[in-house]
Amino acid sequence: MNGVRIKEGGTEFMVPEEHSVKGPGKIRGSVFFNSQMAFNRDVNIMLLKALGRKNMSVADAMSATGARAVRIANEVPDTFVTANDINADAVEYIKQNIELNSLENCVPSNRPLGSLLAEESFDYVDLDPFGSPVPFLHAAISGCRRKGILAVTATDAAPLSGAHRAKCERRYSARPLRGPMCHEAGLRILMGHICRELARLDRGMVPLLSFSADHYFRTYILVENGAAAADRSLSQMGYISYDQTTMERGFASETDKDHKYGPLWGGKLFDRELLSRMSSEGMSDPRRCASILEMWRQEIDSVPLVYSVDEISSFTKRPTPKFEDLMESLRRRGDASRTHLGPVLFKTSLPLEEIVSAYDEAYSAGH
Ligand SMILES: C[S@@+](CC[C@H](N)C(=O)[O-])C[C@H]1O[C@@H](n2cnc3c(N)ncnc32)[C@H](O)[C@@H]1O
Repeated sequence: MNGVRIKEGGTEFMVPEEHSVKGPGKIRGSVFFNSQMAFNRDVNIMLLKALGRKNMSVADAMSATGARAVRIANEVPDTFVTANDINADAVEYIKQNIELNSLENCVPSNRPLGSLLAEESFDYVDLDPFGSPVPFLHAAISGCRRKGILAVTATDAAPLSGAHRAKCERRYSARPLRGPMCHEAGLRILMGHICRELARLDRGMVPLLSFSADHYFRTYILVENGAAAADRSLSQMGYISYDQTTMERGFASETDKDHKYGPLWGGKLFDRELLSRMSSEGMSDPRRCASILEMWRQEIDSVPLVYSVDEISSFTKRPTPKFEDLMESLRRRGDASRTHLGPVLFKTSLPLEEIVSAYDEAYSAGH
């Protein structure tokens, strides 16, 4: 088996010599690896360590080289990990990487995930597919125990963020939108779809951490059992209304059909207490991890309304103020925060007139 040995966080493993380094990644040889996803795996490790569960059974259902599985087994105490992939060549890498780290708490598995998750259930199930997770969600939910955690990556960010509207409607039964809110809406359409899939099986969800990074969306969800939990979660679904010509936007259970996007998850994105316990120490990119933790901790996650400074500038035809001045001026009027979704974006529930006058005030302050 050809390969190169790399170190990520506190773990070393072998990956194919030819591998992706950026973007959604291509399958270059027979086994997939994308070094840019090191950040995604870092977040995974930070979250599971902060969760601090005892005796946690983990299914890395689409493991490829086993990078994620082996990192979890090696870096998160008290875990027992099944590293599964349908591809027999991938399982050769998994076996080698288990051996390289002398892991006794990680086993290889070479099955379609549907069959693994129909026969066994786990405290944590990870879905990390090429593109959309939709075809695998039912199996993942079935294999997730009560109070278990479902972790889902979606690299089909283009349809979810409105670049391919019809594709999003087919896959997620939801209408996406373009513009400054597209990533927030894309993330929430993914979460909304998971919420409805869970509800079909009388299960509900409590989000632990949900974000957009690089070319993908990722959400970690605590799964609760029972019809009441399902109903509670469904009651947090809704629509975003957005009229690009007036900049007016809102979140509602039903809105004007011409400017209606969704359905999507309208509840929280984060568990703040868990976030406060996550630490970047020992991660492969501690600076990026520390800065995203700081960003998430201050980010409003209950208001799904995002604005862009550029949008307000072209709407009002007035020059752009300094971003920090604008944030200060908004915060004096009510709740407002920066968002990890982009450097010129912010979140607030303030009415539009207030936002525009905060914008003017910030511009005057800087001149
Ligand atoms: C994007 S890669 C996973 C990357 C990996 N989690 C990592 O962090 O490097 C997707 C993997 O899913 C596997 N896969 C696709 N369909 C599957 C199925 N039905 N059951 C199990 N594995 C599957 C592919 O063989 C591929 O290795």
